[in-house]
Amino acid sequence: MCGITGYIGKNNNAIKIVMHGLEALEYRGYDSSGIAYTNDNKVNITKEKGKINNLKKSVDFNIKSNLAIGHTRWATHGEPNKVNSHPHSVNKFTIVHNGIIENYIELKEELLNNNYVFKSSTDTEIACAYIDFIYKKEKDILKTLNQVTKIFRGSYALGIICNDDLDNLYAVRKTSPLIIAQGKDENYIASDVPAILKCTNKYILLDDFQIAKINSDNIEIYNQKLELVTKETLEFDGTYESSIKNGFEHFMLKEIHEEPSVFRNTVNTYLNKNFKNIPNFSKYNNLHIVACGSAYHTGLVGKYLIEKYANIPVYVEVASEYRYKHNFYDKQTLVIFVSQSGETADTLACLKKVKEDGIDTLGIVNVVGSSVARESKYVMYTKAGCEIAVATTKAYLAQLTVFSIITMYLINDKSLSNEISSIPTLIDNLINKDYKSIAKEIYKDKNIFFIGRGIDYFLSMEGSLKLKEISYINSVAYQAGELKHGTISLIEKNTPVIAISTDNTLTEKTISNIKEVKARGAKIIFVTNQNIIDNFYDIKIDIPKVSELLQPILTIVPLQLIAYEVAKLNKCDIDKPRNLAKSVTVE
Ligand code: AGP
Repeated sequence: MCGITGYIGKNNNAIKIVMHGLEALEYRGYDSSGIAYTNDNKVNITKEKGKINNLKKSVDFNIKSNLAIGHTRWATHGEPNKVNSHPHSVNKFTIVHNGIIENYIELKEELLNNNYVFKSSTDTEIACAYIDFIYKKEKDILKTLNQVTKIFRGSYALGIICNDDLDNLYAVRKTSPLIIAQGKDENYIASDVPAILKCTNKYILLDDFQIAKINSDNIEIYNQKLELVTKETLEFDGTYESSIKNGFEHFMLKEIHEEPSVFRNTVNTYLNKNFKNIPNFSKYNNLHIVACGSAYHTGLVGKYLIEKYANIPVYVEVASEYRYKHNFYDKQTLVIFVSQSGETADTLACLKKVKEDGIDTLGIVNVVGSSVARESKYVMYTKAGCEIAVATTKAYLAQLTVFSIITMYLINDKSLSNEISSIPTLIDNLINKDYKSIAKEIYKDKNIFFIGRGIDYFLSMEGSLKLKEISYINSVAYQAGELKHGTISLIEKNTPVIAISTDNTLTEKTISNIKEVKARGAKIIFVTNQNIIDNFYDIKIDIPKVSELLQPILTIVPLQLIAYEVAKLNKCDIDKPRNLAKSVTVE
């Protein structure tokens, strides 16, 4: 939800490296940002409302500093403004925070009773004051932070500077992600890998409740008994260059263009010989799929394919509902958690509850070593690489690919290998079609409908979400057969309806539904893999016909690019849409 970065080193690069890290993490939240840095043994803070560019105008990059922390914010407590932006400082402590301190009210009451006063309306300033409050008693930073891990509830990744020890940068986390990386005579902390890729692609993951004490030469990690622990060094399989735009106007467009290779890499990870790296599904007689947003939409496709072809019952639910419902699972249930970031709080909270109930879990995750990956009993990684654009495209396609692979595994079907080898080229051909002219027909409209039947309805849900997310046009996906039961009253002359039909057993019925809205003036964009020449549509987008197990992977491409071109015509911030963040690490 927010991005934090930190630097400590002898090369005095603190401001430059932390500011670069914030730019690399801006996709995690961008309604305000700030930096705290040491200079002449003082901690200085600069923060601004709005995007990082506003902060860059206020920061003096010529200042030499060897210790800094930075933050780019997606507001949870307190509106996006300068006062509420991070870093927050109280007496001897300055911190940046990603997450939510859920017991901030009781902490605030205790602090008010101890004469603390507050400038902002954030939980973070309360957390900072509480650290200062504990420190006054403990007089030891490690002991203080260890106490904090026992008192704070909710989620936090904290970068911490203490005036009494400017030779060290401290960090502690619970639930919100935090990595620590080693450079030459300098070390770093960050919410996510892109922030450090310009310096190194090697990093360690801080586990919940662990405390890091970092100086320019050394990284010490302590557990809750304040014992030193050793950590595995991970290597990000990508470079800084692969995480920047490579000549594309937007990350989203770059990431769509990566979809052919993402499909190939994901398939190759699992399909070569005996379906390598796939957990043994044979001991389960029912599956649950839990996710949010686009990941949830892939779960619906997965349900459709697994139930139709493998005849196994599948229950799909959004994580924020699943967690509070009475769910029917037992030892024969496998609960599958789908998440690009692996840090989505709603999804993670479900995972922890299901694990407590002793149920087997599988994570379908893109970010290696992320919380969902580490908490799940089994993991299947989608090989989409680093996805920066807030609106997911290539990771969504990789998730679809994994569900296709799971279905093929369940029915032990290896007959699709020829067709599978053609998919990257078919994706590429779809990417290179003209969607600008279609976007010009609809980008000024205020309401756009997506309809489909069966599996096409689930694809229409994703097409609608993509359009909403990045172009801010109101859009809804509807089962094609359901429109006439009320919502058709919203159809007016020239209302765009994007109708999807790839299942030829349902095409006739879908065409009937299209004609119902056409008769009321709708403008029809028909997305199909069938050769239908008729006048019920205004625009037809042809997609190749492939096995139903692979069809969704092609169907989604035009929908992603229509959304992209419409947003571009509307001059929206495609990679960082308003109000959103790449990883929703609060519930
Ligand atoms: C997708 O474009 C959205 N950004 C959002 O719906 C996203 O899919 C959802 O927040 C889940 O994120 P996750 O896959 O990282 O868990």
